[in-house]
Amino acid sequence: MSSGNLLARKVHWKRHYVQRNPVCDLLPKAGIRKTPPDDCNFYVSCNNSCTLSDETLKPMSLIDLRDCEVIGEGTRRICYTYPGDPARCIKIPKPKPHGKRQQLREVRFYEYLERRKVPTDCIAAYHGTIDTSQGPGYVYQAIRDANGRISRRYIEVIEKLAADSPEALRGILAELERYFFENLVVFYDINPWNIVCQRDSSGSFHPYVIDGIGDTVAIPILNWSRTLLRQKIRRRWMRQLSYLRREHSWMAEYRFTH
Ligand SMILES: Nc1ncnc2c1ncn2[C@@H]1O[C@H](COP(=O)(O)OP(=O)(O)O)[C@@H](O)[C@H]1O
Ligand SMILES: [Mg+2]
Repeated sequence: MSSGNLLARKVHWKRHYVQRNPVCDLLPKAGIRKTPPDDCNFYVSCNNSCTLSDETLKPMSLIDLRDCEVIGEGTRRICYTYPGDPARCIKIPKPKPHGKRQQLREVRFYEYLERRKVPTDCIAAYHGTIDTSQGPGYVYQAIRDANGRISRRYIEVIEKLAADSPEALRGILAELERYFFENLVVFYDINPWNIVCQRDSSGSFHPYVIDGIGDTVAIPILNWSRTLLRQKIRRRWMRQLSYLRREHSWMAEYRFTH
């Protein structure tokens, strides 16, 4: 390879990595930074004997989950922080029967919402997949309060707010109800563990659903009818409300408006 050619490839290589990703652990020879920056979201492994061969130039993007903190764990998935990007998180399905299948079904549902141009103001947005040290990771918007902390789940705010501000609890439900019915977003498991409450700087809460949207039915064709879809959402929402009514006295004043 001529030296001009090599230089051009170096420049291309540098531009490729530096622009697309924070770079770490690259060849000192190539004149690129050696140590990973804090916001490094992948690494390129190579040893000092590397030369600028095609093999070396091939990007290898991988997130090592040992560098990530666990945000929360459910029955099917573990949710991790995304290195260098507090606005995202990574979910890894547990090796359980149906875990992966359910994850893929959720991804398909997000794609369907995107095609329908449904806003994501009450659901954690989905950002695609990424390779991790434990296989494919599914990247979502991480819901954080104005102070940067991961927002608490509905189940965690119920106890405190039930005494101080039950209308705030009802307001969170009313906002979800509006979102589901106005956008015709179906769900199968909206329980208080799957809703997180983002607290803004004034102390008010905004709900986000982080799990349980979509449908588990075998024949989703029935969802093509807006009337049937609306009826289904209504049935499932009523079931959720009646569960909460059984457990919480402040629910007595909640008014269903759709
Ligand atoms: N987008 C998110 N933002 C903040 N926390 C999240 C997010 N997604 C999940 N979590 C946390 O991780 C936990 C498990 O995630 P979840 O998707 O509900 O797993 P599972 O599918 O196993 O129920 C949640 O209860 C919540 O505490
Ligand atoms: Mg869950």
